Order: sequence, then structure tokens, then C-alpha cells
Amino acid sequence: MANFPATLLNFLRQAERVTALTGAGVSQESGLRTFRDAQTGLWSQYKPEDLASPEAFARAPKLVWDWYAMRREKVRAVEPNPGHFALAEMGHRVPRFTLITQNVDGLHRKAFQTLKVSETFRVWKESPIIELHGNIQRVRCSECGMVADAWEENDDVPRCAGCGGMLRPDVVWFGESLPRSALEAAVEAARGCQVFLSIGTSGLVQPAAALAFAAHNKGAVVVEVNLEPTPLTEKADFFLQGKSGEVLPGLVKATW
Ligand code: OAD
Repeated sequence: MANFPATLLNFLRQAERVTALTGAGVSQESGLRTFRDAQTGLWSQYKPEDLASPEAFARAPKLVWDWYAMRREKVRAVEPNPGHFALAEMGHRVPRFTLITQNVDGLHRKAFQTLKVSETFRVWKESPIIELHGNIQRVRCSECGMVADAWEENDDVPRCAGCGGMLRPDVVWFGESLPRSALEAAVEAARGCQVFLSIGTSGLVQPAAALAFAAHNKGAVVVEVNLEPTPLTEKADFFLQGKSGEVLPGLVKATW
């Protein structure tokens, strides 16, 4: 996409506060499959919905642990792509930028760290990145709730060093509520921004999907970046069809 509407570029330049919501599409160009893509190999007999749930963990904890271990390895082997870096760059340019992600891969954090965006935010109280669905590199005790980013592997599901309970990934599973403080911060960022970007998300999973509509209802300009139309597209003020790793760097370059 070479040309962006001049009105969109002006909205972005003038915005005091910009909020972006991302989904699995943003990490697709780093080599990670989107959530609704078919699984491959050993795992092709399972739907993610059948592995990412408290019921699945209760029924077959080792199976769920192994699936996350495989995903964790994949995440460790990949790097942020130009879409992640363009969003980090936006973090430098916009006076107040919030990035809400449904991804658990930590690639936004990595891009922000690489471009040292955190320096820009040191005067703020809140973090610029809200990981709505958690982070796959952390674990949480299924009994006492203790969160850790290091643990002892064994042949079975690793146990909590404190209480001996089974460790699980520190992510939100189907049927679970989102962490309250993260959701409240996300809703506030959606309702308080002048421009809201929805990028690489199918908009099918609540409550994340409602954030763009909340921003729209509060008068924000809504911009969608996706390979294909979604339930949001009709409401969006601008629909930029294409790969986020190509559209976002172009948009940042054209704007600033
Ligand atoms: P999905 O897999 O549902 O959707 C990915 C979206 O990205 C689709 O709309 C694609 O068209 C789009 N897409 C793919 N490649 C793209 C690219 N290179 N550039 C731009 N867009 C691209 O993933 P999510 O919407 O993130 O939740 O799914 C939301 C949540 O559903 C996940 O966080 C997960 C799942 O249930 C939990 O695990 C709680």
C-alpha cells in the first residue's frame, strides 16, 4: 500500500493519545501461526480451543503443558518483524501511546526494548503495553497463584516451589476472565484515545473485540489493518488492507 489518505495522516499527527490493539496477525510475519490457522503435525488432531482451557488442563495437564512447551520454543526462536518495530516507533512519536495485545508471545515487548521506547515512557505511571491474554514465557501456580518466569522442568508437569501445586502457563484460557486491572486499563485507553488502531485481529474474541467499538462510540477515529475484512470493517473509518509488516512501516513513514 503506497498511498495513505491525507486525512488519516493528519489525524495521527495531531492525536495526543493513540491506542492500538493487536492480534495474532501481527506475529504471523515473524513465523508464528495465527490462532485460527490449522495446527500441524502431532497437534493437528486438536483444536487450540481444546487445549487452551481449564477443563483440558484438569483432564490432561501434561498434554496441555507439552503443547505450551512447543509453542514457547517457537516463540523463543522468532524475532519481532517490521510491524512490531513500526508500533514501537509510534510509541516514540505519539505523546501518549498504549499498545494492547492479545498475543502471548512477548514480541511487542522485545521490539519496544530494542528501540528503547521505555525511555520515552519513564515519566508515565502505567506501562505502554497491556498484555491482555498474558505471556507464554511466564508460569503461574494453579493452586496458590504465584507467578514465575523460571521453573524446574521434570518429566511431568513442573511443580510450584512454594506450595507444590501444578504450574500452568500465565495466559488467559477459554472460559477464563481477563486480569481485571489489564482489562480496566485497556478499556480506559480505548475510551480515552483520539485514534484507535485494530491490527491483525479477527475481532471474534471478547472482550478484546469490543475495545474498537468502545473507542468508536467515544468518537475516536478507528483504523483497521488486516489481510481481510472483519466484523469491525464496516464501522472502521479507515480500512488498510494488507500485511501489518508492510502497512505499518509505510504508515509510520508517511505520517512522521
Ligand atoms: P485470529 O487467528 O483469530 O485472527 C488473526 C487475524 O489476523 C485474521 O483476521 C487475519 O486475517 C489477520 N492476519 C493474518 N496475517 C496477517 C498479517 N500479516 N497482517 C495483518 N493481518 C493478518 O487471532 P486473534 O484475533 O489474535 O485468545 O485471536 C484472538 C484471540 O483468540 C487469541 O488471543 C486467543 C484466541 O482465542 C485466547 O487464547 C484467550
